[in-house]
This record gives sequence, structure tokens and C-alpha cells, in this order.
Amino acid sequence: MQDITGKVAVVTGGASGIGRATAVALAAEGARVVVADIEQPPLDAVVSDIADAGGDAIGVVCDVSDWSSVEALQQRCVEAFGHADIVMNNAGVAGGGALSTIELSAWEWTLGVNLWGVIHGVKAFLPAMVERGSGHVVNTASIAGHLTSTGMGAYNTTKHAVSGFSETLQQEMLEGETGVGVTCLCPGFVATNIITSERNRPERFREGGPDLDGPPDGTTLSDAGSAIADAYAAQMKPELVAAQVLAAIRENRFWLFTDDLADDMIRTRHADIEAHGTPGRRAHLAELMFPGGDE
Ligand SMILES: NC(=O)c1ccc[n+]([C@@H]2O[C@H](COP(=O)([O-])OP(=O)(O)OC[C@H]3O[C@@H](n4cnc5c(N)ncnc54)[C@H](O)[C@@H]3O)[C@@H](O)[C@H]2O)c1
Repeated sequence: MQDITGKVAVVTGGASGIGRATAVALAAEGARVVVADIEQPPLDAVVSDIADAGGDAIGVVCDVSDWSSVEALQQRCVEAFGHADIVMNNAGVAGGGALSTIELSAWEWTLGVNLWGVIHGVKAFLPAMVERGSGHVVNTASIAGHLTSTGMGAYNTTKHAVSGFSETLQQEMLEGETGVGVTCLCPGFVATNIITSERNRPERFREGGPDLDGPPDGTTLSDAGSAIADAYAAQMKPELVAAQVLAAIRENRFWLFTDDLADDMIRTRHADIEAHGTPGRRAHLAELMFPGGDE
């Protein structure tokens, strides 16, 4: 898609972080933007920031894990702008926990947002794109979708699934000569609000979630959280990712890794697969953020 100006773009998870920066960048480029998010106040703020800058956007409260909510998003987009040219399935949460202990509720929440959110977005918007013979889908995966670091099994599972889903989608779009492009966005570490994802965990999925008041031994989650928060704040700015996303849409580029930070780890995993053997203990993704393990 060579020209973004005048196109209609839908961005889920658009009230914060990567989605917000991309919605703002798309609007600055002259796209009409549907910003979708589960959180109303920051959603209102981004729509008003876009309007203040002379852009055209509407905000739609949407839970991407709920099909009827995404269907309603698609209908609202059609009512407001006629159709969608660009859909960025980006909403995501970071549900953690070891596979031996993680609660089913955490699985359901993480899979619901990170994987079903992408499936719902494609199901809702792709048919009209194929019919029109043009469009571009951006699915946000992660470098975690190419690695298998411990303690983040639910997140890894969703991001591997989004990578495989997106590759299949790209192949189908080529096979059918549909004119629809696909980008699989695989960010490294980006300075966003992802580490406070728990703010969006619905009550029904809270069983077994973190004790937000902290453990009784004096250390608190907020103490641990602040070291991680400081480390995250120093990472790549979401505006840089947004610029890369717009370039990928224009160039119809499939794989979009925001940096080469995890390349060696990904190569090691690929070598293990090609060897058809049993992987040894591999380095953890967190070591890229906390070299030397002084987290
Ligand atoms: N920040 C990183 O380091 C990083 C790295 C790799 C991948 N990612 C991915 O990037 C995407 C964007 O995350 P971010 O880092 O900008 O985090 P963020 O928390 O700043 O933004 C995520 C947005 O998704 C929204 N959201 C959460 N649940 C939702 C739901 N059910 N329906 C609709 N919206 C919902 C949140 O309200 C928030 O506005 C996610 O898919 C995440 O997994 C982030």
C-alpha cells in the first residue's frame, strides 16, 4: 500500500503504547483512524490528541476477546468511514506464570486478548478487504513469538500462535492473489504500559492472579515492579515502532522486527530445531534487558 493518506485504519489496543503511537502516526499521515481499546479514558485522550493535531479519528470501546464487541467495532467503522483499508490487531496483555502453576483463568485471559483478539480482528475485517482487492493487516506478535523463555508460557503460546497465524494469512493472501498485504510485527522491548497489563484483567479472570497488596515478607510487588518499570521506561520509544509499522505497510513488508536484540537467541532456537535434537538450557529473554541477571 504505497499511500496511507486518505486510507481508513483500525488500531486495537490503540489507547496506549505501540497502538497509541501508531494511531497518532497514521492520523498524522492523513489516515482516518478508528481507535479501539477496552480502556475508555486513555481512548478519549488519544482521539482528542489526534483531533487537536488536525487529524480525523473516532474512539470505540471494544474488548477484542469478545466476538460481538469486535463485530460492533467493524460495524462502527463502516458507519463512520465506509470500510477499513488497514487493520492493526495489536491489543495485548502480559500474563505471566510457570506452566506448572499458572491458573486456567490466566490462560483464558491471555489467549482471549492476544490470540482471539487477532482472530476476531481478521474475521471481522478481512472478507471485505479480499472483496475489495486491497488492504493491509498488521498483527502484533513479539520476539517472544520466536523464543521459549520460561515463566511466560501463556504469553509465548499466544505470540507463537500469532506468528504462525500471520504467516499462514500472508501465504493465503499470496495464493489467492488478493491484493491484501500482511505484516507480522515482532517488537523487542518497548517503553509502554505492558507491564501494568493487570489493570485490564477482568474480575472473572482474576483467580490466581498476582496479590496486588504484595507478599507478607516485606518485599512488595510494587518494589519488584519499579525495577522492571525503570528498565522498561529506558527501552525503545513506541513512536519509533510506529514509524516502522507505517514503513512496513507502505513497503508491504511481512516480518517486522523492531531491532536485532534477540537475533542470536532466535538463531540458537532455529539451530536446535534444524538439529532435530533436544535443546540444552537456553538463555532467558529477560537477560537481554538485565544483562548479568542483576534484575
Ligand atoms: N512493550 C513491549 O515490550 C512489547 C514487546 C513485544 C510485543 N508487545 C506487544 O505489543 C502490543 C501492544 O502492547 P503495548 O506494549 O503497547 O502495551 P500497552 O499496555 O501500553 O498497550 C496495550 C493496549 O491494549 C489494551 N487492551 C488490553 N486488553 C484489551 C482488550 N481485551 N480489548 C481491547 N484492548 C485491550 C490496553 O488497554 C492498552 O491500551 C501487545 O500485543 C504486546 O504483547 C509489546
